[in-house]
Amino acid sequence: MGTRWGQNSNLACWFRWAGKHPLRSGQTGVFRRQRPLPGKMKAPMSGTEEFYRIQKLPPYVFAVLNEMRAKARAAQMDVVDLGMGNPDGETPQVIVDKLCEAARNPRNHRYSMSRGIPKLREEICARYKRKYDVDLNSETEAIVTIGAKDALAHLLFATIGPGDIVVSPNPAYPIHQYGVIMAEGHAQLLPMPTADEFLNRLEALYRESPKPPKMLLISFPHNPTTTCVDLPFLTKIVELARKHGTIIVHDFAYADLGFDGYKPPSILQVPGAKDLCVEIFSMSKSYEMAGWRVGYCLGNARIIAALARIKSYLDYGTFQPIQIASIVALRECEADTERICASYQHRRDVLVDGLAKAGWIVEPPKGTMFLWAELPEKFRAMGSLEFAKKLVQDALVVVSPGIGFGPMGEGFVRFALVENEHRIRQATRAIGHFLKTN
Ligand SMILES: Cc1ncc(COP(=O)(O)O)c(C=O)c1O
Repeated sequence: MGTRWGQNSNLACWFRWAGKHPLRSGQTGVFRRQRPLPGKMKAPMSGTEEFYRIQKLPPYVFAVLNEMRAKARAAQMDVVDLGMGNPDGETPQVIVDKLCEAARNPRNHRYSMSRGIPKLREEICARYKRKYDVDLNSETEAIVTIGAKDALAHLLFATIGPGDIVVSPNPAYPIHQYGVIMAEGHAQLLPMPTADEFLNRLEALYRESPKPPKMLLISFPHNPTTTCVDLPFLTKIVELARKHGTIIVHDFAYADLGFDGYKPPSILQVPGAKDLCVEIFSMSKSYEMAGWRVGYCLGNARIIAALARIKSYLDYGTFQPIQIASIVALRECEADTERICASYQHRRDVLVDGLAKAGWIVEPPKGTMFLWAELPEKFRAMGSLEFAKKLVQDALVVVSPGIGFGPMGEGFVRFALVENEHRIRQATRAIGHFLKTN
């Protein structure tokens, strides 16, 4: 992966600030616990330097693009936004109706349960049985969370402390590395040009590292790279982790977004996985319920108990009518998950074809709601952030710069399939013109 460090002084500062030196292609990176900023290296985010934990978090790379998009829209320009992975579809009507009905009942206005109401836990376990033939105890092996992000952040907070190593592929969904940093662990990042290469690096790490990682934090289908794996791959990872006493957290946010007949496997399908694994599932993408904030953590009872303990101090659970509506979603909306997946697949085809016509050839992904594209050759030197900025300015198309997903995301941009086909065609035509004229 062609990474170019230090050309952009803001980014160089960003990485120094994130507590590490720029990584070069193929290297392993460790984000260590942070020391306070040296006096002369001022954080680019003003006014927050005095806050201990905030010092560990670099400024949000996507903020600059959000601002450009907002300015363009304020100037009445028609921007096609393929940046954030924020589903644009409507939540199925039956779920909305149930929410309204449940919200009218004052009994549902009180504090709910931090772990989630029992019927919802039972329903998610029933779905795992139906879909994956996985048996889960709804009392001890399932917990409801306020979305997958909440599950990840609090799980790391509950289980990771100073000195604990958490290995994850990079680039990645930002909480996978920053959740570890916030918990004061060591985020050890391994490149993932392919899933097999990630596994090779992991094996090498186990051979060479004096201290085994406490946790592997993986996610397939993967955001942003769209890497997809099969059950034998997950079996190998589970066996490797088991041998070394490492626990596994599998973020399964794109569980239902597999294309062309591909069905993403659950890690809990691996025999004995519950001894060391938990899986995080989200309603956000499968049911177009991103704003509702419902997720689950499922599997190993000891890890679930740790999350339940910390959550009992932090929250009272998702608003109960939302939990009740989620039961209906899990029970009645399987066909909707298939329709939603088919719509992303169609948008993927439109985007891949449109980009090909524009002269930008990208492999079609097997899953997720994204396309991960290497920068066209003549733009590689400018880096992903500058390229994405130029694309908003000149083509009125927003994409996410790869660098926003961590050091190993440089050289790529991510398209989110969150606008309709007509708008995607509009975007690829504009990109075609942009590529020809730059
Ligand atoms: C890999 C991954 N995990 C988790 C999430 C967040 O899920 P939720 O909306 O349930 O918090 C996302 C959202 O984009 C994601 O890409």
